[in-house]
Amino acid sequence: MPLVDRPLIQYAIDEARAAGIKEFIFVTSRGKGALEDYFDQAHELEASLKKAGKTELLEIVRSTNMESGAIAIIRQQKALGLGHAIWCARRLITDDPFAVLLPDDVIIGDPPCLQQMIEAYQETGGCMVATMAVPADEISSYGVLDVAEDIGAIVRVRGLVEKPRDNAPSNLAVIGRYILAPTVMNNLNKLKQGSGGEVHLTGAIADEIAEGRNVYGLRFRGQRFDCGSKAGFIRASIALALEREELRYALEDFLQDRVALRSGA
Ligand code: G1P
Repeated sequence: MPLVDRPLIQYAIDEARAAGIKEFIFVTSRGKGALEDYFDQAHELEASLKKAGKTELLEIVRSTNMESGAIAIIRQQKALGLGHAIWCARRLITDDPFAVLLPDDVIIGDPPCLQQMIEAYQETGGCMVATMAVPADEISSYGVLDVAEDIGAIVRVRGLVEKPRDNAPSNLAVIGRYILAPTVMNNLNKLKQGSGGEVHLTGAIADEIAEGRNVYGLRFRGQRFDCGSKAGFIRASIALALEREELRYALEDFLQDRVALRSGA
């Protein structure tokens, strides 16, 4: 799905690359072959753009190229949850910490959210999740932090609950950026099923705490859009377009006119 002029997934890749990440694993499912092709080199397209002297477009196309061997694609054959999706990549995850990005969560941040997290993680170690406060009537849609200690932008976590129906331990929701210790993969190996019969990543991170390791949340600076919802996707499109100088002027007047028209109606 394109946001402004590039696929949604490109924003997560750009964010990860800006944070220094060079190797990627995509966990996908049936019917997502286009994704694989997208990251391949488009020789014919590059040649014709070059011939036509369209250097700007050529640069955009080239910026999506991945180095050979830097990208792996794994299929999750059964929709058994986020934890299971990550477990599907277990043979490719080594003994190093790794980051997980859920591309549905688009975040405009400066520095980008994952970069902020890596900087905070360099101080804390352990596991780190991105977090933000959400309204009470939305908290049941998220993994939620039980806070042990509030240290400014960073919180130390006592527990995590996936989509609590009631009695959420706080208003701090987990947003789709994680830095995980390799031990999380051992926890996922247990394939413990939670609500809805799914294997939750939240549970595997909570197991870290039970085993005496530290988990932190970072209240990142930036704006997050839930592109899994229609309204969120449209908001992200507008916000990202307004960030672009060549579109901002064409859109600002239009948006103001539309709003004025609606409120006059
Ligand atoms: C997933 C996670 C949840 C997290 C959310 C962030 O849920 O399971 O813990 O809060 O992403 O977007 P999903 O949105 O896939 O239902």
